[in-house]
Amino acid sequence: MSHHHHHGDTSVESDGGLADLLDLDADVLHEYWTDALGRVRRAADDGPRRRIVDLGAGTGTGTLGLAHRFAGAEVVAVDASDEMLDRLRARALDQGLADRVRTVRADLDDGWPVDGPVDVTWASLSLHHFADPDRVLRDVHAATRPGGLLAVAEFAERPRFLPDAIGPGLEQRLLDELGRDQADRLPHLGSDWAARVTAAGFELVEERTFVIDVAGDADGSVGRYADLWFRRLRPRLAERLDPADTATLDGLLDGDGPETLLRRGDLHVRGTRTVTLGRRP
Ligand SMILES: C[S@@+](CC[C@H](N)C(=O)[O-])C[C@H]1O[C@@H](n2cnc3c(N)ncnc32)[C@H](O)[C@@H]1O
Repeated sequence: MSHHHHHGDTSVESDGGLADLLDLDADVLHEYWTDALGRVRRAADDGPRRRIVDLGAGTGTGTLGLAHRFAGAEVVAVDASDEMLDRLRARALDQGLADRVRTVRADLDDGWPVDGPVDVTWASLSLHHFADPDRVLRDVHAATRPGGLLAVAEFAERPRFLPDAIGPGLEQRLLDELGRDQADRLPHLGSDWAARVTAAGFELVEERTFVIDVAGDADGSVGRYADLWFRRLRPRLAERLDPADTATLDGLLDGDGPETLLRRGDLHVRGTRTVTLGRRP
């Protein structure tokens, strides 16, 4: 999909926008992904690791990263979206992993879709989308062999990109409105995941916060990431913003204009993600 969206381009709100954003996330936050998946690899015990599951796998950054780290294991990528899984399979083929990566299209709200015992489960930014994450966590527990591992990666602090001088304070107001918007739509966002992992029957191994701090340059992936992030937020937040903020945001999103996010040197991605590790006793 092209990154040259224009105002009112409805395709941005399709899965395609999200798939591009996930690919940019893997690129821009490469260091976080390496650290987080490396931590999962080290926490897994020395037992057999035949089957790994990625819940809400998206375009497969976790799936492929785990397939590379767990030699010989089969990685089952579960997602409700065909578009995500198509892209994931193409990446697996590119990376020579097609024989060990399997995709399962399933809505995890409908029940547990993976056969057989599971050794490691990875769920990144997906549990907060499920209607009943506790039920899914109990299903993961039931499917996990004793000694097996669960890793839940979630947002702690939302990513920020902009200097405060823009709008002044525009980004904080956007985040405040986003929080209000999401309080109803995504009630599980920001939960105490360690408590929920434990309640599902896992022993807590650790809860680790990863600090994200990536400076952008004038024409790199940070700009494309910021552009797509705010482009996806705009229709959701436009009615809640005052006209001056909407105008500032539109200037940032005007790919041909002087303020475009795509070509500025002052972006800086900051945020935190938490990875919660549990082991089935
Ligand atoms: C924010 S993305 C995260 C993708 C990936 N785990 C990552 O971290 O890059 C959330 C993913 O969960 C999937 N998803 C959301 N609700 C789902 C459900 N009920 N069943 C299966 N997949 C779901 C979406 O299709 C999307 O690919």
